[in-house]
Amino acid sequence: MKSISEKIKEKPIIGWLLFLTTLVIVFLLGLLASSVIERRAEAVFAYTPKLNHSSTEPRNEVWGENFPRNYQSYAKTKDSSFTSKYNGNAMIDMLEVDPRLVVLWAGYGFSKDYNQGRGHAYAIDDIRNTLRTGAPIDGNKSPMPNTCWTCKSPDVPRLMKEMGPAEFYKGSWEEKGHEVVNYIGCADCHDAKTMNLKITRPALVEAFERTGKNIKDATHQEMRSLVCAQCHVEYYFNKEKIEGVPYLTFPWDNGMSAESMEKYYDDMGFKDWTHQLSKAPMLKAQHPGYEVYLTGVHAKRGVSCADCHMPYKSEGGQKFTDHHIQSPLNNIANSCQVCHREETASLIADVYERQDRIIENRDKLEELLVHAHIEAKFAWDKGATEEQMKAILMDIRHAQWRWDYAAASHGGSFHSPVEIGRVISTGISTIQEGRLKLARLLANLGYNETIPYPDIETKAKAQAFIGLDIEKLKAEKKKFLEEVVPEWDKIAKDREAKYETSLN
Ligand code: HEC
Ligand code: HEC
Ligand code: HEC
Ligand code: HEC
Repeated sequence: MKSISEKIKEKPIIGWLLFLTTLVIVFLLGLLASSVIERRAEAVFAYTPKLNHSSTEPRNEVWGENFPRNYQSYAKTKDSSFTSKYNGNAMIDMLEVDPRLVVLWAGYGFSKDYNQGRGHAYAIDDIRNTLRTGAPIDGNKSPMPNTCWTCKSPDVPRLMKEMGPAEFYKGSWEEKGHEVVNYIGCADCHDAKTMNLKITRPALVEAFERTGKNIKDATHQEMRSLVCAQCHVEYYFNKEKIEGVPYLTFPWDNGMSAESMEKYYDDMGFKDWTHQLSKAPMLKAQHPGYEVYLTGVHAKRGVSCADCHMPYKSEGGQKFTDHHIQSPLNNIANSCQVCHREETASLIADVYERQDRIIENRDKLEELLVHAHIEAKFAWDKGATEEQMKAILMDIRHAQWRWDYAAASHGGSFHSPVEIGRVISTGISTIQEGRLKLARLLANLGYNETIPYPDIETKAKAQAFIGLDIEKLKAEKKKFLEEVVPEWDKIAKDREAKYETSLN
């Protein structure tokens, strides 16, 4: 019998074969080891909970007993110290920054009060504080329905399970004030038993169904965006579905582009409000963040919302999902540099460059819209007829919808700069068409001069221009916050004290 080395000398190929086989075995062993380590990490999630609680438990801190890292990172959404060039989590009064918004939204709640969005932890405070929900006290009702609570709290899936969605949406906003008290949280995105991602809002499921898709077919990676699409989307209150119920609906039946949704609203003759100055039948874009994201290059390459806004993080040798949902510019290392090799400064510059260019044009569109509203009012005052104004008002409606689609899709100018740029340019051409018609009409009515532009240099001046008595609204709000809200919190505390939890 020959030794192995003799055999190799005769046939060197055997040596190579042995060498390659060893390589393959070492590689497989490596894979095994890494899989064991990963499974061990996973085993931590296939956990026995420390604390048992119901599947609809709305209190984040209770879930936090079982998942302290996820909970503690999520609680950081309370942070309000970061501002980027256009976004961040600080409390910023957008009407103060840009008083023209008051004119664009004249006759609608947003002209009273509009702040930049901040962390999830503020969802309840902010909806209570905003002048838009009014001061429901002494038998007065809020101008808003209960539907407005839908994207604010894990008390929502709890209530919907108890009473069904239609019953939840029904009635005015203050009626469920004592029920909806916990800020957006675990039960909005997770199944309590498995901790798998879960869609808890019927509007998203229904929108999928109407376009012939089943949300249950979504991949794991798609779910990492769809949990956000429960709230970061365009929606409206459909009052025709069920009598007396403002039923939360996503207008996606024709598609998700600005034009498709506009057609959806036009076809049903829907308007959010009639503009106080121009009398145009207006649409208010909510926040079509998901729709716009889908048109961008990251979505096309399979990057999810969670990849950038909830990146992985390591602590004490354990990898977990950082639940501090915020502007990724406050965390470039984990949010971007896992995929991009560029320096932090250069990645931030990429984001700002896109935002600067988009916002430059959006600003021009905004200016044109203010002119159009003021000129339209002028035409009415000069005796224009409904018939003469009709086409002009539709131009204003469509152009402002496009402006708002761009402005309210928070992050849109980075998520999909090409699409947002396109939408803004169609808005500019539409409003210029409208202003041409207006100029012709005014000439027919015997007026050929420039229309005077009001002094709306500050929020106060702009609100005075449209006749809002903000001090009165603020005083009523203060009373409501002092007298009604503590009552809501007390009732909620008593209820929650009765929820069952048990230690394992
Ligand atoms: C807005 C949606 C959202 C909310 C709210 C949320 N999570 Fe998550 N959570 C996610 C996503 C997305 C992942 C990543 C899941 C994946 O890729 O499988 C995740 C993952 C997890 C995991 C799996 C382990 C890990 O770290 O990846 C746990 C445990 C978890 N979350 C706990 C919580 C707890 C506790 C809360 C409440 C304090 C919470 N989550 C709130 C979306 C959410
Ligand atoms: C239940 C509804 C809901 C869900 C689900 C949800 N959000 Fe939000 N999100 C909100 C609301 C409401 C605000 C604004 C809160 C405020 O300003 O008071 C917000 C704010 C934000 C902000 C701004 C934070 C800041 O610091 O400025 C980001 C970023 C964000 N959400 C990302 C996400 C991502 C990513 C997901 C999915 C993983 C998600 N959200 C899921 C409702 C939701
Ligand atoms: C999971 C991987 C991943 C993450 C995380 C990620 N990117 Fe990307 N990014 C990509 C891919 C893939 C492309 C498309 C490049 C291609 O296909 O050539 C891309 C493209 C880009 C582009 C060019 C797009 C354009 O508009 O022309 C920019 C800028 C960019 N990323 C910035 C960022 C920033 C900033 C972050 C963090 C907030 C980030 N990316 C996070 C994978 C990622
Ligand atoms: C490739 C990374 C990336 C992906 C994917 C991504 N975002 Fe963003 N997002 C960003 C960046 C960068 C900004 C701009 C932050 C800034 O200007 O401070 C941003 C801004 C935002 C904002 C405004 C933040 C603020 O501070 O007010 C929201 C809300 C948001 N994104 C939600 C989402 C949602 C929802 C999805 C999925 C549908 C998503 N994002 C997908 C990178 C991403």
